[in-house]
Amino acid sequence: MNVSDSERISTTLAGRGYEMTNDEAQADVVILNTCSVREKAEQKLYSRVGRIRHADRPKPIVGVMGCVAQLEGETLFSKIEGLDFVVGTQAVGRVADAIARTLSTDEAVVDLGSREVNYDWTVAENQRHSPYIAFLPIIEGCNKFCTYCIVPFARGRERSRSASEIVRQVLELRRNGVREVHLIGQNVNSYKPESESGLEQFEGKSAFSRLLRAVAATGIERVKFATSFPRDFNDDIVDVIESHDNVCNWVHLPVQSGSSRILAAMKRGHTIEKYLKKIDRIKSSTKDISLTTDIIVGFPGETEDDFQATIKMVEYCGFDSAYIFKYSPRPGTPAFEMADDVSPEEKTRRFIELENTQKRIQSNNLQRYLNKVLKVLVERPSTRTDGGLTGHSTCQKLVNFVGTTDMIGEIVDVRVTQIKTNSLFGVPV
Ligand code: 5AD
Ligand code: SF4
Repeated sequence: MNVSDSERISTTLAGRGYEMTNDEAQADVVILNTCSVREKAEQKLYSRVGRIRHADRPKPIVGVMGCVAQLEGETLFSKIEGLDFVVGTQAVGRVADAIARTLSTDEAVVDLGSREVNYDWTVAENQRHSPYIAFLPIIEGCNKFCTYCIVPFARGRERSRSASEIVRQVLELRRNGVREVHLIGQNVNSYKPESESGLEQFEGKSAFSRLLRAVAATGIERVKFATSFPRDFNDDIVDVIESHDNVCNWVHLPVQSGSSRILAAMKRGHTIEKYLKKIDRIKSSTKDISLTTDIIVGFPGETEDDFQATIKMVEYCGFDSAYIFKYSPRPGTPAFEMADDVSPEEKTRRFIELENTQKRIQSNNLQRYLNKVLKVLVERPSTRTDGGLTGHSTCQKLVNFVGTTDMIGEIVDVRVTQIKTNSLFGVPV
């Protein structure tokens, strides 16, 4: 979501005559997009801002946007010397105004206001992170309030975008040569637009599965979506994946813990048994669906037994990849009031044990791709090998192979010849 926000900001700024530069020392304006999901991410802002270079030039205008901006607001000015403006998560459409106000007043500029009704979600072709792949927010914010999580406070309540607007945008992206769209949101399967306009003729038990069908019907070559919220992840989503060739075989379903006791303390709204039932449905699909997840270790009150339940769950699920995090107390969340009673050493031990287990399972699990042909959307040359190219499969695996530069932007059949922990290696067929 942050990458997507940045793309839209550079689109707005380019439209106002600004030019993007990768050379920070040459920049007249530096904007830092921030994350506050864990303390470490937040700390990055403070260390990074001190390292802004501006060789032989007047000091650049410095702005902070993203979740830290939203949560800290004005207080950032006392924490960051030379800071000029702060723009919250919903005020991204007004960054150019914040820069203009900074130039015309000596006062600190803060905009934490809400999104404009007519906010423009388009991203200019030359401002996308890839010419062939587009991120498309369909819902923003979160109403779930998992006890450890700062996101509902930083991104506000769930707001779904209109289905006809999303479909219109996908059609336009397709016309402009985009081959893959990622429908994104904190919880895509909580998608609930104000009106059903654009979805009427599509079946599905939830608005999200109807939207998936509507997006698939545009004929765009590949559709991916993330993140899904387990409690509301129903069979009808798997049905859509099975019945549409262009809906990709990848589901990111963060489990967070293998212990129902901890899941209850996290207020995730489901038990581990319910989660595993959903996994069973995904695994029994006619399509080989790749499954990925997020897990937190060391949540308040997590005992060795709870942790071992997580290990067992990971063994059962056979995730193709998992993001593992040590619990980080976030001020303002309900879990912040609980005793952070798993010591840092123990969190690290659990992290390493879980990571090793996941790595072992992952490399076994990935063997199923050996000698299989995967359809890879080639994104760019890989920096590692001479003549190397890199891209993702429909199941969102990173695939490297040696090919020719004319393959960039194409979907190439690649036979997998080697399995690595986080990527696959193959040869074009
Ligand atoms: N501490 C550690 N990990 C967290 N996440 C969210 N909040 C916290 C926290 N306070 C993780 C969750 C989520 C992912 C995006 O970040 O696993 O799914
Ligand atoms: Fe955070 Fe839970 Fe919302 Fe995900 S669903 S963003 S973990 S509160």
